[in-house]
Amino acid sequence: MATQESSYKVDALISKDIEAYLDQHQNKSLLRFITCGSVDDGKSTLIGRLLYDSKMIFEDQLAALEADSKRVGTQGQEIDFALLVDGLAAEREQGITIDVAYRFFATEKRKFIVADTPGHEQYTRNMVTGASTADLAVILIDARKGVLTQTRRHSYLAHLIGIRNVVLAVNKMDLVDYSQEVFDKIVADYTEFANEIGIKNFVPMPISGFKGDNIAGPSENTPWYDGPSLIGHLETVDVDLDAALAEPFAMPVQWVNRPNLDFRGFSGLIASGTVKPGDAIRILPSGRTSTVSRIVTMTGDLDQAGAGQSVTLTLADEVDCSRGDVIATADHPPQVADQFQATIVWMDDEALLPGRAYWMKLGSRTVSATIQHPKYAIDVNTMAELSAKTLSLNDIGVAEVYTDRGIAFEPYGDNHALGGFILIDKATNHTVGAGMIDYALRRSQNVHWQAVDISREAHAAQKNQRPRLLWFTGLSGSGKSTIANLVEKKLHAMGKHSFLLDGDNVRHGLNKDLGFTEADRIENIRRVGEVAKLMTDAGLIVLTAFISPFRAEREMVRSMLPDGEFFEIFVDTPLAVAEERDVKGLYKKARAGQIANFTGIDSPYEPPESPEIRIDTTSETPEAAAERIVATILGQE
Ligand code: ADX
Repeated sequence: MATQESSYKVDALISKDIEAYLDQHQNKSLLRFITCGSVDDGKSTLIGRLLYDSKMIFEDQLAALEADSKRVGTQGQEIDFALLVDGLAAEREQGITIDVAYRFFATEKRKFIVADTPGHEQYTRNMVTGASTADLAVILIDARKGVLTQTRRHSYLAHLIGIRNVVLAVNKMDLVDYSQEVFDKIVADYTEFANEIGIKNFVPMPISGFKGDNIAGPSENTPWYDGPSLIGHLETVDVDLDAALAEPFAMPVQWVNRPNLDFRGFSGLIASGTVKPGDAIRILPSGRTSTVSRIVTMTGDLDQAGAGQSVTLTLADEVDCSRGDVIATADHPPQVADQFQATIVWMDDEALLPGRAYWMKLGSRTVSATIQHPKYAIDVNTMAELSAKTLSLNDIGVAEVYTDRGIAFEPYGDNHALGGFILIDKATNHTVGAGMIDYALRRSQNVHWQAVDISREAHAAQKNQRPRLLWFTGLSGSGKSTIANLVEKKLHAMGKHSFLLDGDNVRHGLNKDLGFTEADRIENIRRVGEVAKLMTDAGLIVLTAFISPFRAEREMVRSMLPDGEFFEIFVDTPLAVAEERDVKGLYKKARAGQIANFTGIDSPYEPPESPEIRIDTTSETPEAAAERIVATILGQE
């Protein structure tokens, strides 16, 4: 984080020097790169050295820049800041709690943004975040240690992320007496690995970040080395900085700008291609078409804008378009699908739970997504495909991803902005994974919703009732089944059409393949949710009695139904009371260690935070509770 001292320095700089500074660098090309290395590889030293040796000291935490960027005027300057600021703003929005510091510096020939990712155990996460927009990766190796598993992991990640320019910086050469033999051995080891994973080109360099060897110019200590210095290479390396401009136009809509009735603009950061007034566009996923009228910016209208620019577009027609949609060229729009194969990097201490719904953020769209059981995980040392039930911290694997609605995307290989996504835990808001779409599953594009003539409204109307899902949740033995039974009897007597799905019964049939692990319980509730949803489509009042211990799955079922149809009924019986009753004798067995993962004993129960109905079975009889439930749900018809 910025120290008092350094932000003071930047403040001072910005107020008087920044304009001059940016004028000076406006026309230089920008190279974004990351440095990768293990904890002690000397990353910070190297970055410090680069900043120092570039001799054009203008570096600090972005926060200070961000605050002041608003005061800066002209077009070119704004683009620089947008680039910088977007990175951070996006992360904040995603709730990423890491500190990737973007540092900015320049030399005579080029300007640079280096994503400085701290090298602790959360490293992978930081690296993926910093790397997704990088053009080049500097892989640091400690000359004394050689190629480590970490080196392989980082290289493989950099390659997966799509970075095609790699510098192999063999650091701390001063500590191995600048030995050519040591250097050659490391390069040979790395070459073998690079060939395996498909890194075609990498530039090896013997350096010392600490002493400055081969950083800004050739070092006398390595007369046997005739390659470029690090800065020399960064300044001249031929990267296709404009590749995104050559792609078809696409812009995820960040927000709809509607200050008054006369103006409606769609704001976002252009992900690829260029756009001009008059261009035919298509809005995805809806597929509606229109024409661009104006490209509006803070400093006036533009005749053209391209990848990397933040703009507001107005359209010729009043078409539906909202946050998260993608505005794309009409001829080559991105695809739309809801099932994908993706390569996923897991970044959380808690392993992936297949079947659990996570937030998936792709472009400016956030949807609910479930990851299926991984097809395989990748061993970064051997590149072998290992069978895997889940993905743990830092694992890389391939799995299918299902989203709850169609989203516009491109395979990551074609378009990073429309093919890269992050996964967020719905409860903790932590970023738990990052992924790259490989392709859409063909079935997701070929299985369409069959339009049925008898709608769910028609089904319900014929039964003269509104569909409902009464979701009973609570500990084993809390009284869910008892109360649900009473409620159904009452509904039946009133001529209502209902059906009760009970945990113990469903587990003998549809779900007899499932046990009581976290993953199995998630799948249990997912299936029951789907069945219950279909039954409400048929117009029924459905009652379910499952422990359903996890908030996430209960919320997932809630989100599957129209507003107002889902009633979470918390049968709130304290553990001690349920255990005392022990109707099925299971608590006794669980205490005796004869049943594992028993809810309340050695498996958690997450009580509802705001259930529609709460029943305290220690003070309300089942009969009274059933009465109250019927009154509540029918009262709202
Ligand atoms: S849930 O957690 O997946 O929602 P569900 O309601 O289907 O559970 O099944 C719970 C019933 O299974 C309990 O009422 C009890 O009769 C039985 N059962 C057997 N083993 C366990 C266990 N380890 N934990 C909880 N319930 C168990």
